[in-house]
Amino acid sequence: MSHISLRTINEEHATLNAMLQSLLMMIKRGPLNAPELFFDILRAMLFYIDEVPEKQHHPKETELLFPIVAKRSPQCAEVIQRLNNEHHRGESSIRDLQHMLLGWEILGDSRRVAFETAAQKYVDFYKEHMHLEESVVIPEALKVLNADDWRSIDAAFAMNSDPLSNSKPRDPIYDRLFTKITLRTPAPIGLGQS
Ligand SMILES: [Fe+2]
Ligand SMILES: [Fe+2]
Repeated sequence: MSHISLRTINEEHATLNAMLQSLLMMIKRGPLNAPELFFDILRAMLFYIDEVPEKQHHPKETELLFPIVAKRSPQCAEVIQRLNNEHHRGESSIRDLQHMLLGWEILGDSRRVAFETAAQKYVDFYKEHMHLEESVVIPEALKVLNADDWRSIDAAFAMNSDPLSNSKPRDPIYDRLFTKITLRTPAPIGLGQS
């Protein structure tokens, strides 16, 4: 894909997908005989899934890409409205999930199934959200945006991963967090001791 904006969105979707997949695999594996490590890792994974989309990913879509696509393609406006709403709603669903994990950790197994069910539901929701962007919005953008549109979108993406602070380079803190989680998560899900 030649546009830096679309490459960035795809890369961020790929890392989020990997984190969501690892989360489900860890839940399926369960705490086994190391509950402290298990809950530490799950907490870090949920923190990542909460923080990265909100701070790094959704603002770029909502502020830099979606408005121009909705303007050039009115039939796409409804889908874009739904995706924007989901950007807002996703935040509270992941906070609920963090609370439910704490319930399982502190109150024990009576809270386990509720967390597992909610986590699966969240992962399905977020994957569907990304799929809609990849299968509807991006193909439509490629159809309706002109060369000038792409030049300004790509320039904004290239300058910064955070459109709210105009001149800072991409913050590597989330890449380091991703690596840290991968190194601690037991193999074969991650690279840590199994
Ligand atoms: Fe999105
Ligand atoms: Fe996205």
